[in-house]
Amino acid sequence: MLEIHDLHVAVGDKEILKGVSLTLKQGEVHALMGPNGSGKSTLSYAIMGHPKYTVTKGSISLDGKNVLEMPVNERAKAGLFLSFQYPSEIAGVGLASFLRTAYNERTGSKIGPMEFMKTLYEKMALLKMDKDFAKRNVNVGFSGGEKKRNEILQMAVLSPKYTILDETDSGLDVDSLKIVSEGVNALSGPNMGVLIITHYQRILNYIAPDFVHVLVNGKIVKSGGKELALHIEQHGYDKVV
Ligand SMILES: Nc1ncnc2c1ncn2[C@@H]1O[C@H](COP(=O)(O)OP(=O)(O)O)[C@@H](O)[C@H]1O
Ligand SMILES: [Mg+2]
Repeated sequence: MLEIHDLHVAVGDKEILKGVSLTLKQGEVHALMGPNGSGKSTLSYAIMGHPKYTVTKGSISLDGKNVLEMPVNERAKAGLFLSFQYPSEIAGVGLASFLRTAYNERTGSKIGPMEFMKTLYEKMALLKMDKDFAKRNVNVGFSGGEKKRNEILQMAVLSPKYTILDETDSGLDVDSLKIVSEGVNALSGPNMGVLIITHYQRILNYIAPDFVHVLVNGKIVKSGGKELALHIEQHGYDKVV
């Protein structure tokens, strides 16, 4: 499991997370909700190892190993995956070769381009992505929704143990939201733990969470079941605490 204990995270000298504890097991779906600026993305960056986000106190362990001692690539190889809220465009890097390189690193295999295309096209079909995307540079000229779908394609290719989806739902129209959610549902299961970070409960109509946590001002102020998300939708964050 992915265990986060009393995590404090700062950017520069500003403390953003003020003692977050969360345990994510394989096979579970957790939703992390919270108002803008509450620290949701900060948590995801700290888990993945973004150098700007300094862990000042607390621990993160993955299946018993100390994540904080691992460089980012080791975290990814160990099975952590983050779908970015704002995916980057990488000019000059073809999507297919990018994904193949990542796949080979993650799995320790040496699959060649031809063989890999079969796997890639299968995953693209699942997400109803046109094959032409494989020939393009990573995210370059993709629409907001296409970038988000491409994040899930990466997840599909890498089969992580623990996936963090940072507002993957924002910027998606209803049809894309459905496709992305179906993709996540098809790929998750007993071997994957999912942390869905979201501002709205909309995506939770498609991906049913086992647990819902509410982050306000760097602290989890409430945890509960699916009904907590519905309560927030009706009453807003102010009335939660
Ligand atoms: N790289 C950064 N530099 C300065 N401030 C940051 C940085 N990242 C996050 N913050 C600040 O930390 C707070 C939490 O941000 P964030 O984690 O993005 O919130 P959320 O994802 O919940 O909207 C905000 O006040 C934001 O301005
Ligand atoms: Mg965010």
